Amino acid sequence: MLSYLKSLEQLDPNNANKSGLKALDLFAGCGGLALGFEAAGIETIGYEKDYNAVQTYNSNLSGYCHQEVLNLDTQFPEADIVIGGPPCQPFSVGGKQQGLKDSRDGFPIFIKAIEQVKPEIWLFENVRGMIYKNKKYFQEIIKELNSLNYVIQFELLRASNYQVPQNRERLFVVGSKTKFQFPSINKYQFTVKDAIGDIAYLIDSNSKILTSSQDQYIEKYEKASQCVNPRDLYMDRPSRTVTCRNLAGATGDMLRIRLPDGRRKRLTVREGARLQSFPDWFEFYGSEISQFNQIGNAVPPLMSFVLANQFLASLQGAFEACSEYKQLSLL
Ligand SMILES: C[S@@+](CC[C@H](N)C(=O)[O-])C[C@H]1O[C@@H](n2cnc3c(N)ncnc32)[C@H](O)[C@@H]1O
Repeated sequence: MLSYLKSLEQLDPNNANKSGLKALDLFAGCGGLALGFEAAGIETIGYEKDYNAVQTYNSNLSGYCHQEVLNLDTQFPEADIVIGGPPCQPFSVGGKQQGLKDSRDGFPIFIKAIEQVKPEIWLFENVRGMIYKNKKYFQEIIKELNSLNYVIQFELLRASNYQVPQNRERLFVVGSKTKFQFPSINKYQFTVKDAIGDIAYLIDSNSKILTSSQDQYIEKYEKASQCVNPRDLYMDRPSRTVTCRNLAGATGDMLRIRLPDGRRKRLTVREGARLQSFPDWFEFYGSEISQFNQIGNAVPPLMSFVLANQFLASLQGAFEACSEYKQLSLL
């Protein structure tokens, strides 16, 4: 059994040219999703509007990320695979629901890209609420993508089942021309201690120790939300979901560790990154808030690595089927 930090060594972007396949990564953020694909042997080309996220991508990954605001007229190069995390414009049930006509939304752009590039296989990731709160809109998106002749499968995947020490649950939707299978569950789960046990209790002048008024605020928040166990991170289990909000904001929900002397400490950028399965060599650019946002927004690279390997298996199956077909047609 690999240790957690050892398993992060699998995330090597120098593998990116091994399969000869190319993936476009739309709404690429800092490249969490892309890192898993590169490590599996797939070259990536990113598109992202945020300057700092683009700097992070281009300094850590093998592929190049274009800093650009995607729109319905964006022209993309050829690619075998399209992946992405399109932002979904939240709309209330009673509100003005423009669905795919809402120009602030990432999905019309994602669908247009699939129509234009015609990849063998594609994937998008989104928050789990999409299939509950925005069910009608989700169905509209699937119908549209279905009309482009893809077999579409979706699942809610929990990161802790794929080597990531975090109970993050996200929706993954895959469209393919050939058979695709979501990865099987890894029985062993890594814990917070596996991820940050060596750094969690190191205190220096930059450590953010909670003040007594913050402690009181949390106590009030937890009482009001009828929380039985304090929401500090537990070392012996996976962490709760790492988000931009609970990393960057001094809220009642903020991610924190209880120190042996009883004080509590907020997570550092490196601790947040480790819980999201970014290796220590991966450096984030921009202000601390920007770095927290990049981390909280990302698909954990180890989870993406497992998915990318399933993409390769699916495409290899396609190639075998293709050569069989050619042989048959020669007879
Ligand atoms: C959920 S994050 C993507 C995270 C990424 N998949 C990862 O794993 O690191 C969505 C990203 O879309 C970007 N974005 C939103 N609208 C955009 C647009 N029109 N063009 C380019 N990027 C956009 C945001 O800046 C944000 O970084």
